[in-house]
Amino acid sequence: AGFTIQAGNSKPISDLLLGIFFEDINYAADGGLYAELIQNRDFEYVVSDKQGRDTSWNSRHSWKAKGAGASFRIDTLRPIHANNPHYAVLQGADATLVNSGFDGITVAKGESYNLSFFARSEKRTKVQVRLVTGGQVLAQATVDVSGGNKWSTVKVKFTATAAAASAELELQPQSAGEVAFDMVSLFPVNTFKNRPNGLRNDLATVIADIHPRFVRFPGGCVAHGDGLDNIYRWKYTIGPLEARKPMRNLWNYHQTGGLGYFEYFRFCEDIGAEPLPVQAAGVPCQNSATLPGVGGGQQGGLSPEEMDEYIQDILDLIEYANGDVNTTWGKKRAEAGHPKPFNLKYIGIGNEDLISDVFEARFTQIYNVVKAKHPEVTIIGTVGPFSEGTDYVEGWDIAKKLKVPMVDEHYYQPPGWFINNQDYYDRYDRNASKVYLGEYAAHLPGRPNNLETALAEALYLTALERNGDVVSMASYAPLLAKEGRTQWTPDLIYFNNTTVKPTVGYEVQKLFGVNAGTKYLPATIRLSDNRDAVAKRVAISVVQDAASGDVIVKLVNLLPVPVKATTALQGLRVKNTTAVKTVLTGHPADKNARPVTGTCAVNENFAEELPAYSFIVIRIQAQ
Ligand code: AHR
Repeated sequence: AGFTIQAGNSKPISDLLLGIFFEDINYAADGGLYAELIQNRDFEYVVSDKQGRDTSWNSRHSWKAKGAGASFRIDTLRPIHANNPHYAVLQGADATLVNSGFDGITVAKGESYNLSFFARSEKRTKVQVRLVTGGQVLAQATVDVSGGNKWSTVKVKFTATAAAASAELELQPQSAGEVAFDMVSLFPVNTFKNRPNGLRNDLATVIADIHPRFVRFPGGCVAHGDGLDNIYRWKYTIGPLEARKPMRNLWNYHQTGGLGYFEYFRFCEDIGAEPLPVQAAGVPCQNSATLPGVGGGQQGGLSPEEMDEYIQDILDLIEYANGDVNTTWGKKRAEAGHPKPFNLKYIGIGNEDLISDVFEARFTQIYNVVKAKHPEVTIIGTVGPFSEGTDYVEGWDIAKKLKVPMVDEHYYQPPGWFINNQDYYDRYDRNASKVYLGEYAAHLPGRPNNLETALAEALYLTALERNGDVVSMASYAPLLAKEGRTQWTPDLIYFNNTTVKPTVGYEVQKLFGVNAGTKYLPATIRLSDNRDAVAKRVAISVVQDAASGDVIVKLVNLLPVPVKATTALQGLRVKNTTAVKTVLTGHPADKNARPVTGTCAVNENFAEELPAYSFIVIRIQAQ
């Protein structure tokens, strides 16, 4: 086989092509990326958070009282904030309030932890706080709770002298009498970039290693919710933690909002990625309220009065991100610790919505107002759910009519679909809206994330690079999944409380992320066997990175046999004849294949063997 790279015919491509999509699914936020270790810290779990009737899912979830005659009740009489009406009142001599965390609290030896809580007590009392496993105390401190029956905040930092995979937090008042507790929070001091109210360092680091150019958040279905009352409201998620309004997560759990819009923006800034918040288009998932039996005859979208307020919320979001400190919402951002604007450039309106009249009316209304008030922000619309063969006709009609600058497409398909449709965007109108491929993944029966799915995604990513003039952004979905708490597979990164487990698909995303380019150099492929089925399984993409000048050759071989190839670099001079070469190969069913990096000799002509089932990246220093 032979590859000929024609540097002379290059074209500029998007410098934002590879990003990530963070959705709070699979316990990605609470119990996941958000480093909070206390589950149900606010005593706000409610039975209605869950589908079906799980009566154990209530304010008492993850909490118990320990000690002879000890008990706790849930009160709502004098809450710390109206958004957090429930709190616990511990009673009984020698009583201890115990939290078991998210599947236990993992404690590391030598690690320091920030504990904070609100407490209210008639009499002044000391409270002993401990991290404990099987009777062994791993860390402890004693704190003061002032008397007078007024809520006060207590904060203490303590260090673990031993490790445990699954510990509990104990709060034990040292004098008799009732003590009320709320917003009991425990964070490791060592969060990502040491941020307060921060993210799990190990998980955030693995995400940052992809070098994503943007982060879409907070969903997915989470963004538009499964009913009008479940539309994600960004305003619920900012400000002091006790004032945030928890929400029911439609993936069947509770959402504290602790990882909220401020934290999302800050994370984007910390990893050098553009923030891409997605706001519902005034309609819930598949306009769910119109579905028989779900909405009870509601109109399927927010009412005209609600729309005015809702659109103002979106304008306020832009002000929160970009307004100066003298604006109402810019001031709130500054109060949260970030006087400088976050420089929001993109906003998504809608997520994979059913393209109904209800949707169109509301999307159009939002689009027109946001576009008029904020021409500097690129609005990304949605063309609805993927349907084979129709190419999102109705969604595209709206996009073309309104001249929406970019639209979001989603598809989860078998590897064969990605192989057979690698020319999907070659056919797209270069003058229509740009595309954000907001969700995609190769799905096999049983939904593994293995070398076969990863190579199909790699092959498709070469096609996205080739079409980087029309495809501006792309993100695999979903990103995170907690083992034992997963509603959707496959995902890109699995994790539990102690370990982060990136998949082979993650390795592909990372190789594309760290080897992105700003210019596409067309290349032709010559194969000895030219049959379609063979030709479609070998792909090349060549990009040049403006910053380093490096030329990056990506080669995918999805054939069960090796391909011997010569590569000719036309119109390019090699500066260093030693290139960095990374190879990902193995059995298609292999879930543990990992890239191996070495070097190879390159010149204006060089020979390369592509092993069976492989993805190769060659990074060449060019002149
Ligand atoms: O990625 C999982 C889900 O798939 C998203 O929430 C939704 O947008 C899509 O249907």
